[in-house]
Amino acid sequence: MKHIFLIGMMGCGKSAVGQVLAQKLRLPFTDLDSKIENEQGRTISDIFQAEGEAYFRTLETEALEEMAEEKTDHVISCGGGIVLTNRNIEIMRKTGTVIWIVRNVETIVNTVDTTKRPLLKEGAGRVRQIFEERRSCYEKAGDIRIENDGTVEQTAQKIMCALN
Ligand code: S3P
Repeated sequence: MKHIFLIGMMGCGKSAVGQVLAQKLRLPFTDLDSKIENEQGRTISDIFQAEGEAYFRTLETEALEEMAEEKTDHVISCGGGIVLTNRNIEIMRKTGTVIWIVRNVETIVNTVDTTKRPLLKEGAGRVRQIFEERRSCYEKAGDIRIENDGTVEQTAQKIMCALN
């Protein structure tokens, strides 16, 4: 089993790049947050508000476990906090290749949509602090580090080259 897991900060482009990458590889694409939202019948923000972050993290691990067990390989875009749980890192590294997508933090601060991201409800500037807190987790989890500093197509192409 060799899934492709995309990790990285909120707003780094995982979902957009993941969809293009999946087309190139002719693999199905799954966005883990969307899977959770569909199964729960509510948004990530609603889950955070009603149940809190810890509960969301358990749902996130369950969704990841389910995807990891899929017989067909998938391109899986993960929420930015997937690396906060060691078990998640173990699952990803065991069942696939983990691609860490890196985007300039100031670019993220200037472009990220805060409305759907409960951790940014106090403003996009929080991205700077969250990135510093998580940097070592991304380093630990990622097999391959890819800069997303061009178009979505270019970044997907860079990943294709790195996978070969
Ligand atoms: C989170 C990132 C979000 C989502 C949730 C928490 C995080 O996903 O899972 O809001 O902790 O970084 P995106 O990275 O797709 O925004």
